[in-house]
Amino acid sequence: MLIVGNWKMHLNVHESSLMVHRLNERIATHRDLEVALAPSMIALQPVSLEIDRRKFRLAAQNGFYKDEGAYTGETSFTQLRELVHYAIIGHSERRIYFNETLEVVRDKVTAAVRNKITPILCIGETYEERHGGETKQVLHDQLTTALSDLTASDIEDMVIAYEPVWAISTFGGVLAKPYEAAEAMQRIRYEIEELYGKRAAGMVRIIYGGSVDDQIARGYLELPDCDGAMPGAASLNYHKFTAIVATAYQLVQERRKEHGE
Ligand code: PGA
Repeated sequence: MLIVGNWKMHLNVHESSLMVHRLNERIATHRDLEVALAPSMIALQPVSLEIDRRKFRLAAQNGFYKDEGAYTGETSFTQLRELVHYAIIGHSERRIYFNETLEVVRDKVTAAVRNKITPILCIGETYEERHGGETKQVLHDQLTTALSDLTASDIEDMVIAYEPVWAISTFGGVLAKPYEAAEAMQRIRYEIEELYGKRAAGMVRIIYGGSVDDQIARGYLELPDCDGAMPGAASLNYHKFTAIVATAYQLVQERRKEHGE
């Protein structure tokens, strides 16, 4: 199980440190549960020196697909590789506000893998696409393009975040019903199986994002194809984020019991 806190463009360096301190006090190390934090680019370095790496992993929210060069204002995955374990790639805010095309997202995924950073690839349909009956096609196009440079073993390690655009708090935050999330996540696993085989489909982690908070997290986390969640707004509230992590841990324990461990 993986919980990723996407802090977006919130919290300065000092506030990020404070947040890490608060989370550190409240979250313990758990087997089978990973907690990743995605602070802003400027906070990554200081936070990387402060976090307990047994408890938390760091994620970049973005990165550029070239490794080095005259690209004013950009940060490459090569520059990030010492700092982060994960990188969020293709978030709908980047696709929509920064015009990231399917191909740009693909090049970023490829660059992250080339630099040994695990991509958290975000995919998801807009409200119009869902109501136009295009969800399957959109997920298919986003997946096939983004993953086209990768091998099956690259896919096994990566994370795919299903984030219906209409459910993200910034874009309206209509809560997806768990069955809607379940359907899409099952579809994503099916697509991966078609493209990269059973093993990759079984191993790739699929997480859910879109207005996840402590009250509703369980409804998504307990879905059969769900390996975690990516809260945005709720991750800025340490009470809520800690409660989401606790819910995930409870589920991990329940599953272990079910398997007689
Ligand atoms: P939200 O953000 O939880 O605020 O909807 C999730 C995301 O955008 O990853």
